[in-house]
Amino acid sequence: MDSFKIKGPVKLSGEVSISGSKNAALPIMVSCIARPGIYTLNNVPNLRDTRTMIKLIETIGAKVKKDNNQVIIDSRDCNNPEAPYDLVKTMRASFYVLGPLLSRFTTAKVSLPGGCAWGPRPVDYHIKAFEKMGATIKLDRGYIQADGKLKGAVIDFKVSSVGATGNVLMGCVNVDEEVIINNAAREPEIVDLCNFLVKMGVSIVGIGTSILKIKGDSNNQPVNIIHNIIPDRIEAGTFITAAVMTHSTITLKNINIDHIKSVLDNLKNVGLKVSVNSETSIIVSHQGEIIAQNMITDVYPGFPTDMQPQWIALMTLSNGESTTEDTIYHDRFSHIPELLRLGANISLNKNIAKISGIEKLISADVMCTDLRAGAALILAAMVSDGTTSISRVYHVDRGYEDFEYKLESLGVDIKRVSVK
Ligand code: UD1
Repeated sequence: MDSFKIKGPVKLSGEVSISGSKNAALPIMVSCIARPGIYTLNNVPNLRDTRTMIKLIETIGAKVKKDNNQVIIDSRDCNNPEAPYDLVKTMRASFYVLGPLLSRFTTAKVSLPGGCAWGPRPVDYHIKAFEKMGATIKLDRGYIQADGKLKGAVIDFKVSSVGATGNVLMGCVNVDEEVIINNAAREPEIVDLCNFLVKMGVSIVGIGTSILKIKGDSNNQPVNIIHNIIPDRIEAGTFITAAVMTHSTITLKNINIDHIKSVLDNLKNVGLKVSVNSETSIIVSHQGEIIAQNMITDVYPGFPTDMQPQWIALMTLSNGESTTEDTIYHDRFSHIPELLRLGANISLNKNIAKISGIEKLISADVMCTDLRAGAALILAAMVSDGTTSISRVYHVDRGYEDFEYKLESLGVDIKRVSVK
């Protein structure tokens, strides 16, 4: 298990190019299973999660070629509609395979994902939606066995779910009848998936809104598609937060400014200055005090839960008291005990963290408990006095491409220590 050693405090300078979005790449990669074809995906981040997804679709029978950030998937000979526990347990997003498999093969055996570092994270919406679309679903020794030709339906999600919306969308690829999703997720990653499915021949009305009307096509003609994955808005948000915490000026390239609007707006309230270079590049800078601000996470276009740990890390150095409430994942606070080890002043009451800003953090040994918690600890280590050792960085490797090299190029003293 690798760890990072980071010597703080640091000042950042230079530019960083943001990678393709993990959470857009994963469903798009697996949706290639739904219809035979040759798919060329560009701007796919090279991450532990995307490599796991390649293994999963190869298990199903796809041939995959990977060259840097280009992944070419040939799904013409897929023949094994089964997703084993070994792969699903390492990455919850593997559960996305249920929709494409059911759509193409009318049968699927997919391991239940199990628990997660921040609570149970159920998949009941996915299952109920496919039942409504005509599938018979049984649980057998940790696996979901789903059978039946999917048909038209009206799906009402009680809570907007990125995963369930994506899974149903992919399930629709070969359904000739209309499927309506009410309270659909509107996240940019879902929009990217919709745009990809449209290239596959699926008709989708309402892309980017909370009502999607989808009509697939059972004519299983092979397709040949090229698609560029959108930039990762959470990676961008993490680097901008780093600039604020270190009172630095950095340039971000390859971003979609619209996708990070709520992050930028909230960071501007903290004192961030932003100047726009071009449609895909901004310069961000911060000087002076970090102004304490309350935060409540929300579905898109609100402030993302995937930025909540980094936001709390930022507020530990603010000029006053603030609260951060996570309305999406009520238990997603495992970074707090680790930030306390660095001297932060935070208390937690249910899903609301109360943070009293202090002048500086002091280095200590800490541990990543999940992907974004790990990002928060890296940010905190960068502004802590002394050398912080962060263990279990495999969590961070799941979702940040070349993180330590990008940080190093901005001036961070960071080393990976490999323990065999
Ligand atoms: C996705 C993202 C994750 C992000 C989250 C919220 C991927 C691979 N992961 O996760 O990084 O933090 O969106 O933006 O894209 N829920 C249920 N039953 C279900 C499904 C969801 O109760 O069947 C609840 C969840 O517990 C949660 C809420 O719905 O409270 C939203 O979860 P969801 O949007 O589904 O998150 P994921 O798709 O798992």
